[in-house]
Amino acid sequence: MALIVLVLAVGIFSLSRYPLTMHTPQLEQHIPAICPVRTDPDSLSVYGRDWSTLYPARPSGIAFPETIEQVIALVHWANQQQMALVPSGGRTGLSGGATASQGELVVSFERMNQILNFDPVAASITCQPGVITQTLQDYAAERGWYYPVDFAARGSSQIGGNIATNAGGINVIRYGLTRNWISGLKVVTGRGELLDLNKGLIKNATGYDLRHLFIGSEGTLGFIVEATVQLTRPPQQPRVLVLAVPELADVMAVFTAFRQHLELSAFELFTANCMRHVVARGVPQPFAVSSDYYLLIEFESASDEPMDTALQLFEQLLEQGKVIDGVASESEAQAQALWQLREDITEATAVYQPYKNDIAVPVGQIVPFLQAANDLLSREYPDYEVLWFGHIGDGNLHIGVLKPAELDSSEFAQRCAAVTEQLAQLLAQFNGSISAEHGVGLTKKAYLSYTRSATEINYLRTLKQVFDPNGILNPGKIFD
Ligand code: LAC
Ligand code: ZN
Repeated sequence: MALIVLVLAVGIFSLSRYPLTMHTPQLEQHIPAICPVRTDPDSLSVYGRDWSTLYPARPSGIAFPETIEQVIALVHWANQQQMALVPSGGRTGLSGGATASQGELVVSFERMNQILNFDPVAASITCQPGVITQTLQDYAAERGWYYPVDFAARGSSQIGGNIATNAGGINVIRYGLTRNWISGLKVVTGRGELLDLNKGLIKNATGYDLRHLFIGSEGTLGFIVEATVQLTRPPQQPRVLVLAVPELADVMAVFTAFRQHLELSAFELFTANCMRHVVARGVPQPFAVSSDYYLLIEFESASDEPMDTALQLFEQLLEQGKVIDGVASESEAQAQALWQLREDITEATAVYQPYKNDIAVPVGQIVPFLQAANDLLSREYPDYEVLWFGHIGDGNLHIGVLKPAELDSSEFAQRCAAVTEQLAQLLAQFNGSISAEHGVGLTKKAYLSYTRSATEINYLRTLKQVFDPNGILNPGKIFD
């Protein structure tokens, strides 16, 4: 955790205005009357951080509510004591949204992990926030249904955290974000009031839809304590193509050709060095030739027709020289093996402590943006290895900058933060976003004004004040 010190040193996030008065002994005195609590050092270090690993884990304790009433009691208590609360799901976030570095009380939802109801007529599941994403997916699959929001952290992330961050992932191009699948939400606001929002309705034209305000609010307005999620039919025989594309300029020509003729469920990009890192840890290399860019395309092929169409498109692109090689899955196991080329990138490169950007531009702007970003990053990072990968069909690119082993962590972070400022300026010119799907949390806070106007941020602050007047819910996240 060498990075921890450096981030404090370079001042990427400000540490002001935390309403703390309590200390651990008082916590141990008060919280057990409400719900179980832990204050041992191991738990503090585990529950005090997420996968961003950039910030020190320094919570005062971790509360484990088991009922909605206990969550309400905790929020009332925190308001009386001016104690900051940090909601905690699977802590797989990459933006520091679930970090507790200032003596906050972490509120873990892992004991509220029950599936409460399956409604086959409504095609919905009602569950508690601590249900693991994959558990929800498996539960739906066992009943012949499909919960389509999916990403590599599925085995650890929790549905409450998915909702709080409006999680995206690999199937957004077809199924949209978490927001599209939430038909009911119970939240406890920062005032300790329980709201039962939308109640599973598909149609409900009764004014402001507060449900959507809480989705993606990163725990700053209320705690999600129950959700009703919608399901859909499972995909029939998903097939995966991986294509080798030499020129960046051709990436979106491939996209346009495939999307026009097939219903795509994924359209992902990764660069040659991503492929190299993943192959180095044992994932089979599917190509004899090498290429600067690779595209992973997924679609259903219950009959032969979609695959025939895909092969025709591939032939045409090959003739035009836009694609130089390609592989197609013929079984589910092969599809999964090809997905590993893309999904294993984060894990394969974690050892290099990458500095991460997660950006979006309107889909039609991807090629000109990527060309401008490439110029910027090659100029500013002449000595660093830069990985590009992500959900290019949604206009979303992940950029991972690998730290050279000999470079001091704090110098590296300072350098990357300065380049991110320039990247944010470039994004503003392209109507882009400094966080496509990982959230603002702490890591993107300094750049928020490049994506949201000052007037807009003022409205955000006003809304925060309405739902959390004492500022006890996840303070310091998204904005100060
Ligand atoms: C991914 C994560 C990093 O797409 O969002 O692999
Ligand atoms: Zn992603």
